[in-house]
Formats: sequence, C-alpha cells, structure tokens
Amino acid sequence: MKEKQLKYEKIVRNMTLEEKASLMSGKNFWETVNIDRLGIPSITLADGPHGIRRQAGNADHLGLNPSLRATCYPTASAMANSWDPKLGEEVGHHLGIEARSQGVHILLGPGLNMKRSPLCGRNFEYFSEDPYLAGKMASAYIRGIQEEGVASCPKHFAVNSQELRRMSTNSVVDERTLREIYLTGFEIAVKEGKPKTLMSAYNMVNGVYANENEHLLKEILTEEWGFQGVVVSDWGGSNDHVAGVIAGSHLEMPSTGMDGILEITTAVNEGRLSEQVLDQRVDELLDLIFTTDRAEKEKGKNPFDKMAHHRMAEQVAENCIVLLKNEEQLLPLKQGTQVAVVGDFAKDPRYQGAGSSMVNPTRLDHTLDLIGQSGLDCLGYAQGFHRNGEPDEKLVEEAVKLAQNAEVVLVYMGLSEQKESEGMDRKEMSLPKNQIELLRAISAVNDKVVVILSAGSVVEMSWDVEAKAIVHGYLAGQAGANAILNVLTGRVCPSGRLSETYPICYEDTPAYHYYPGKERNCEYREGLYIGYRYYDTVGIPVKYPFGYGLSYTTFAYKNLRVSRERVCLEVTNTGNVDGAEVVQIYVAKPDSRVYRPKKELKGFQKIFLRAGESAKVEIPLDDKAFRYFNGKTNRWEVEAGMYTIMAGSNVQEIHLEEEIFVEGSPVPRKEETKLPSYWSGQIQDVSDEEFERLLGHPIPDGSWKHGEDLGMNDTICQMQGAKSFLARMVFRVLDAMKKKSDKSREPNLNLLFIYHMPFRGIAKMCAGVVSMDMVRALLELVNGRYVSGVSHLFTAYCKNQRLKRGARRKQSG
Ligand code: BGC
Repeated sequence: MKEKQLKYEKIVRNMTLEEKASLMSGKNFWETVNIDRLGIPSITLADGPHGIRRQAGNADHLGLNPSLRATCYPTASAMANSWDPKLGEEVGHHLGIEARSQGVHILLGPGLNMKRSPLCGRNFEYFSEDPYLAGKMASAYIRGIQEEGVASCPKHFAVNSQELRRMSTNSVVDERTLREIYLTGFEIAVKEGKPKTLMSAYNMVNGVYANENEHLLKEILTEEWGFQGVVVSDWGGSNDHVAGVIAGSHLEMPSTGMDGILEITTAVNEGRLSEQVLDQRVDELLDLIFTTDRAEKEKGKNPFDKMAHHRMAEQVAENCIVLLKNEEQLLPLKQGTQVAVVGDFAKDPRYQGAGSSMVNPTRLDHTLDLIGQSGLDCLGYAQGFHRNGEPDEKLVEEAVKLAQNAEVVLVYMGLSEQKESEGMDRKEMSLPKNQIELLRAISAVNDKVVVILSAGSVVEMSWDVEAKAIVHGYLAGQAGANAILNVLTGRVCPSGRLSETYPICYEDTPAYHYYPGKERNCEYREGLYIGYRYYDTVGIPVKYPFGYGLSYTTFAYKNLRVSRERVCLEVTNTGNVDGAEVVQIYVAKPDSRVYRPKKELKGFQKIFLRAGESAKVEIPLDDKAFRYFNGKTNRWEVEAGMYTIMAGSNVQEIHLEEEIFVEGSPVPRKEETKLPSYWSGQIQDVSDEEFERLLGHPIPDGSWKHGEDLGMNDTICQMQGAKSFLARMVFRVLDAMKKKSDKSREPNLNLLFIYHMPFRGIAKMCAGVVSMDMVRALLELVNGRYVSGVSHLFTAYCKNQRLKRGARRKQSG
C-alpha cells in the first residue's frame, strides 16, 4: 500500500501504539481522549440537528437528562419544507455560533436519512423522501455550521430508516436503490458541504455493520466521493472496532474503557491491522482535533445573543409553514376577527421531537400568550382533548360551547410528544381519535374551522373535510407559535411546500408490507419507489402530493428554455400579495430502456416576488439530473436519448415542459420480464424470486434462530427463547416492564433501548465498566453454560479491573 504523507507526522511518530489506539475511542460519553504530553487536547461532541444539546451533567443519548439552554430551531422535517438551502445555511451559522459558545467542537447533525415509511420514529429529524432535496438542505446546513469553525457530523450513514431494533437490523437493498435513493443525499452533502465528520449508522447494510462496511466507507465515501474527514460511530454502533478502523472509521463513541485500546493494540501486534492504516486514521483525527480546537480558541466562547437567535428561529419557522387548505379564502384572518382557540397544543406547543435531538430551549412561545398581540380578538380558550388520547366528553362540550359563539375557530391538533421519538417507530399513521372527534363536534356547530397541525411527520388526514383551512406547522421550534399566528393573520404569506407525500391511508404506502423489518432483515423490496416516486408512477391518488403548498397569492410560469446544463423560465406573481414560490424541476424519460420512476426531482429554487412582479429563474441541471446507476457495469451512466424536463409547483402540478436530447452511453437492452414489478412500479408485493433477481443474490436468512445459542449481535429481547431458565426469567421481567410502559402512553425510552439492544451494546455503552470478555461470559450463562460462564465472568471481571487500575496509574503518573 502506498503510504500517504501524514500532516502531523512528528506527533504521530512520537506516539506509542497505546496512545494511538486510545484516540480511536471516546474518553467518555461526549469527549475524545486528550494526550497532554503531546499537546493533543480533547474535543467535545454534542447533538443535535436543530439545536445544541450540550449536557453539562449526566450524559445520555436519548434526551433523558437535561442540557444547557440553546435555541430550538424548527426540526429538519419542517426546515425541508422551506426548500431554501440559503436559509438552511443561515440556521447552520446560528447553530455553529451556539455550539462554539458552549465549547462544542462537533455538532452531531444534520440527519438526512430517507423517509421510507411515514412511521419511522425519527422522521422529524430527517429532511425528505427525496435524496436531492435532502442532500441540498443538508449540505447547506453543513456549510453554515463549519463556517463558524465547528465540525458538522451528518448522520446516519446509511440506509437507516427504521428505529425498531436499529442496532441489530440488516438493511437488505439492491445496489441501484442504494446508490440512487439512500446514498445520493449523502453524496451531495459530502461533495457540496464537505463535512469534517460523518456518523455511521447503527444497522448493517447488506450484512455488514455500517461502521465497518468497506463498500460504504472505503469504496464509496472515501474513494469515490473524496471524503477526507473523520467517521464517528453512532453511540454504541461500533461492532468490531478493528474492522471499523480498517474500513475507514475513526472514532468509536462513547468510551469503551480499555476494550477499545486493547482491541487495536492486539490487532496491530498480531498483524491483523497495519500500523500504517492506524497512523492514517490518527492523523486524520488529529486534523479534526487541532482545526476545531483552534477555531474555538480563536473565535472564543462568546455568549450568543439569545433574543436575536430566537427571532431567527421565528423567521425560519415562517418560511417552513405549509398552508394545506384554504377554502373560500378563509385565511388570512382580518384584524379583529373573533376567534375561539381550541386544543391542548395552543397552550403547550408541540415544537420538537424526543430523543437525542431534544433541546432545552432558551424560551418558548405560547399561542395563548401571543394571540393578544396578533390583532385577533380571542374569545377564549378550551383544551378540547387530552393529548395522550384519553377521551373526555366534558372537554369536548366546553370547546363546542366556546366555538359556537366565534367567527372562526382555531383548532390546534397534532401528534403528542410520545408519538415521535428516537428509539421507536409509530404504530399507526393516524391522529388520536379523541382529537378527530373533537374536530367533528366543532365543525358541526361552526363551519369556519382552521386546523393548526403540529406533527413532525406524515399523518393520515381524512378528517380534513371538517376544516375550511389547514396550516401545517410541522415541529416549528421554540418560536413556532408566533410564526403560525403571523401566517394566520397574513403578516407572512405562507411559502412552505411539503418535502414528503401525504398518502390517503397507510395501506397505500410503498413499504407497507415490508416495514418495519421483521427480526433481523429490513428488506427494501420497493426498490427505487419511495414516496412520490411510487404514487406518481403507479397513479395512486394521494391526499397532498410531494412539493405541495398553497399561498395567499398566485404564480404563473412561462418561457421555459432547457439545455443539458440548465433550465430557464419566467415566473410572475399574479396575485395581490407579496410571496414566494418554489419552482420545482422534474426530469422524466418516458421511453427509458431501464426501469425508473415516472419523474424525479432534479432541481428547485425558491423565489420571492412582490405582487405583480416577474423574474427570470435559472436552475442548474447538475451531474445528478440524467444519471442512473447501472448495476451491471457498476457505475453511474446516462442513457442516451430524449428526456422531458418539467417545471411545476408540485409533483402533480406541472406548468411547463420541454424535451431535450441528452447524449450518453449506448442504450441497454430492455429486460422487462425479469423484473416486472419494478417495470410497472407495482412493488407492494414483490416475490422472493423477483427480489433476489433484483439483488443479484439470495435473500440472506434474517430469521432468529430458535433453540440455538445467542451471540453478541442477538438482542436482549431474544432471551425469550434462551437456553437458560434465568435468562428467560430476566426476559419476562423486561417484557412485563415494556408492556407496562407501552400501555402508559409514555414509553420508557431507556427500557426500549435495552430491550432491543444487541448483547455487545452492554459493553459498548457503559464506558468500560463491563468489558466485551465479560459480555462473552454473560452469553455463556444465557446459553445455559453456567459453570464455565461464572468462571469466565470472574476472570474477565478481574482482568478488566486490573487493566483499568493500570490505565489509572499511567494517567496519574
Ligand atoms: C443517535 C445519534 C446521536 C447519538 C448521540 C444516538 O442514539 O442515533 O443520532 O447523535 O445517539 O446522542
């Protein structure tokens, strides 16, 4: 192997093998190791994507313990509705400033996994169902954060679209889908954002854990995309540390005590890991440490202007809010309109999701405190429903009584805090029944109902007939309440557009039969047909299409001109109100010899126009516009021929289109018969045989092996079938606790995490208190080998204690 010149050669040459190894794992939950004798400081990592979650006290990765106060901006799912990368970059700057002020060197975000199903618990943390939009938004964030000297850490690389058993699942996906859907967003983020770090996902991708996946980390990330930064494992997501370092991962988080050091040093001594590779990883990590540390010192930890950042959060939210419905132009409401405010979310806003991204906001706007200043005449407030779903007739009656006397009723509805969280997926797409019943009761007495919706991901919306207008705030951050009032009263003309499709019902979704993955496998049988790519191709009617959103004004498109490099057109604001339009460019190849979705988003631009104003819009078509991934040649290719370029205001509303000829590779032979579902787009029921033809290999066996020994990567809940009676007892206790927590409507995230955690997680998550050897011995006990288990556990415990004592002695002396 050719030796790469080391940037910090002098330091690396001075380091002992043990010191090098120590750098490859965290010092604790949030920091890297410092080596004082060589002037290597420790740097700090913190969540999260839409605000800083810097924990000063007890640490955790599930949002359980408090963190320092920071501005909570709209979550990524809201931000993407702005379709405004410049705004994303501004948010990035603000995040960077706040991170620095709290001594954070690496900000763990943005999250840009694809929204494969509306039910993924973390959808609120992700941008879109479309990789192009997600990639553009993510790269803007990254640039903004890094311009402040803080490193951004886009996550979770890759194919991580399910929370259930996220640490042990295997995403089984064909190469073309992997490249075109699940990696393209990351590719844009890496090439255009140049993040200094990247977080690998918990799951396996085609049988290999993401953190040690050479195909992902080495062949694609480093060799193809030219990533030069540092790969950080997700918390507890490192499986085989040595394999990780070989594949291109640098930092295992959090601390694994002496295990990490020992694994690396032993591998080097035994010749399984070349010291040259280790040196390279150390060198790259040192570059991150020194550059971010210097930036923090130079720019200083100045306190940020909380009020200015709060105002920024409001401005951002205003740009993300989506107006879904506005019959009889009920909105905007005139000054002095008598309104009744109904719904628990008006009192306690739902403004962010749960889990590691949870921010402790600097302040929090409440509708009820602000409505007085909005110019609306508020007749009163009624809670209307319990957000935990419990029915309550009395609350409904009170709300109906109030609604009867109002000109307009503002109903604040949404998903509760417990529904959208890291660590668990939603069970259904619908809103709680008690909220819909309340809405029906209100619309029966007053036909001027405006629903204000708070939810970080897609909900079923058959209830929309009960409302004249619907304003979707998503999870709009700490200043969302006022931003929504500004939209309701017309101070702000809504300009958000949906970054994901709202299907009519859950059964219509492409991964309906495949999500969540059972036992170990998550089979991505729907292939390329994610979100609108499916509904649009097959012609499935949807409630609200991808890219959709209304405005208080109207726009007209004309003069489309198209070349291989760009699309030009003219847009006019034809209404009476100033406002912004999102021009969306879709590309189609109707006569394609390769199967593909009917059309795909390949460009967009948000443009603000005064009433009556026209402007020329120029949208570049980049290298992603015409390419497809050819699994046979294993490279990106452009199919030569005619393409249709469309300009529209959402995927279903195309205003102008033109055809162009694009040069490319020789046209492949059409192979419809081999993959009929993928050619028709009817992918809801793909057979094993056809999926195997798509994969090009047999579907790996992902079933749990009953009656066999449990291993390191089996989950704690698999103790249900353990050989040891004791282990089965432990399972029963855990299971009873989990059932209780499920019923309580306030799931215990910690418990869920443990329940679904693979055994290796016990060692990987507890800072060296338990070593991997101890877990191995524990597994012997679980597998019914009590005598050897106890003896090995004792030996492993003593060894771990001895190593820790040795390490402590070295540190102190
Ligand atoms: C999450 C990451 C997060 C990390 C640290 C993990 O559970 O998946 O997104 O950055 O914890 O809190």
